[in-house]
Amino acid sequence: MFTQPIPTLRRDGGGLVILDQTLLPWRVVERQLARLDDVAEAIFSMRVRGAPLIGCAAAFGMAVAMEAGTADDAGLDHALAVLGATRPTAVNLAWALNRMDACLRPVPPHARRTAAWAEAVAIFAEDAAMCTAIGVHGLGLLRALRPRGGRALRVMTHCNAGWLATAGMGTALAPVYAACAEGLDVEVFVSETRPRNQGLLTAWELAAAGVKHVLIADNAAGLLLMRGEVDAVIVGADRIAANGDTANKVGTYLKALAARAANVPFYIAAPASTFDLETACGEAIPVEERAAEEVFFVDGLDGEGCPRRLKLAPVVDTRAVNPAFDVTPAALVSGFITERGVFGVKELDGFLRGVRV
Ligand code: MRU
Repeated sequence: MFTQPIPTLRRDGGGLVILDQTLLPWRVVERQLARLDDVAEAIFSMRVRGAPLIGCAAAFGMAVAMEAGTADDAGLDHALAVLGATRPTAVNLAWALNRMDACLRPVPPHARRTAAWAEAVAIFAEDAAMCTAIGVHGLGLLRALRPRGGRALRVMTHCNAGWLATAGMGTALAPVYAACAEGLDVEVFVSETRPRNQGLLTAWELAAAGVKHVLIADNAAGLLLMRGEVDAVIVGADRIAANGDTANKVGTYLKALAARAANVPFYIAAPASTFDLETACGEAIPVEERAAEEVFFVDGLDGEGCPRRLKLAPVVDTRAVNPAFDVTPAALVSGFITERGVFGVKELDGFLRGVRV
């Protein structure tokens, strides 16, 4: 049974405590969120991030709102609107808010506070259980891979889809953790993931768990795949359209293309809450555009080990665009690792029907 080394979020009386991911991997700091607006700010500024955790944070945000604000229908609508506007791509956000709405709307206002905390706790626990199941099914895939020349099994990932991004052991990293627990020799290629460098979060959690890993610049992925140095690519997802097209952190699509060219399997690991039947295909997925500052600046440590923000682009007249996600066509996906098993694109329909029952 996997236990998060530090809970990604937890209830503290009438408020919420989160592990502030904007300060990682340099400083481990928990942050108290006492008001609806605090939770919305934490999601928008990526203090909590990763699609499943965004959904969990939104659910807890509803409980904070019922606690600290008015719990009548106007208060409910306000909280749903504020949280729903924080980040557009991860469908887990809308999924969790719909579920909180369905739970709270029929309940009289005086009973909504207790009901909201109970539902948020249930969503968090279910997400943790889904991560564990994803780990079990992904482990089956990893066991079947045969690394070349007796070396470690090499998995490439992108962004951070580990425990930091969920309520449990992660999605893309869950099979890796499960494999290591079983004694498989696994090594993870971790791409930096410019501009927000979530790969550093992945390196941090893998290092803490004693999992072998190698940090690479994003642009090194193609060569490593082409040379046969990678046995499988596993990434998470922010929204999977009904046809299997998948939005995930920008840079995922390039890895999928390179993996296909090199004949390396490319897997998406995600729970049911990331599948969006209302969105027919990738073109209809809203892609979050974030501030140009994220491209111009980089965070790190100076020579004395103090956290610093550096400006990378001194050119005054340079413009930057910053799409936070890209969309990988379903045709490039070898399989979806879900809590119910591994499905090819053609089998997705059956999986989704099962989820709906
Ligand atoms: O912008 P972020 O850091 O929230 O993006 C995270 C990702 O793209 C993850 O790969 C995805 O949410 C899956 S997390 C289990």
